Amino acid sequence: MRKKVIAGNWKMNMLPNEAIQFIEELAPMVKDTQNEVVLCVPYTDLFYALLTAQNTNIKIGAQNMHFEESGAYTGEVSGKMLKAINAQYVIIGHSERRQYFNETDETVNKKIKSAFEYGLKPIVCVGETLDQREAGETEEVITKQTKLALEGLTEKQVENTIIAYEPIWAIGTGKTATKEDANNSIKAIRNKIAEIYGQTVANRVIIQYGGSVKSTNAKELFEMSDIDGGLVGGASLKADEFSKIVNFE
Ligand code: 13P
Repeated sequence: MRKKVIAGNWKMNMLPNEAIQFIEELAPMVKDTQNEVVLCVPYTDLFYALLTAQNTNIKIGAQNMHFEESGAYTGEVSGKMLKAINAQYVIIGHSERRQYFNETDETVNKKIKSAFEYGLKPIVCVGETLDQREAGETEEVITKQTKLALEGLTEKQVENTIIAYEPIWAIGTGKTATKEDANNSIKAIRNKIAEIYGQTVANRVIIQYGGSVKSTNAKELFEMSDIDGGLVGGASLKADEFSKIVNFE
């Protein structure tokens, strides 16, 4: 039985004092859940979030990292640095990074490898644009992104990778994929993993859905056979709303 992982992606929101207040508010509301609770916060919140989340079941992660461990890369943060402050998760290849910051399948793959080198758990994003969906290319696009992201990883590493299927047209738009569509896309990703790494590995990989998840649609999405939780943007910015998504059952 795969665990449900509910991760918030705060994107470029929340100041340190807001992060501290949020986590203090959220912690008692999610303390009894069996689901994994993760908050991926801006770099400037990481240290405060990690301290505030100590002795709670809330895990903290970053939203990006560089694939090199150190060097002349002004403005970048490495996996080694994230590990040093005890961050546990890192989002890699979010569509906003692919779209605005030249993230490619190749850099995504390098970052995942570096994340594992430093014991970080990667949440790897894949998803199709509206044009690709309308052209009937969804499955081809997301399975290709998955294959390239995981290239060269060991079976153990693949098992420990979280994939977030986030159709780009559903991000921040209020439009959610139907639960059947989301489940089918996630099944296609799982089948591709099975084809390359075997069914046992594929059955263990956690694959989330992301794109306008909120408390009113979380339950129907997360109860589908292949959807193992969600990566939540806007609705992860209010503790009360996010707690309802975590406690969707
Ligand atoms: P929204 O939940 O705001 O649509 O964002 C989804 C997302 O991009 C999470 O990574």
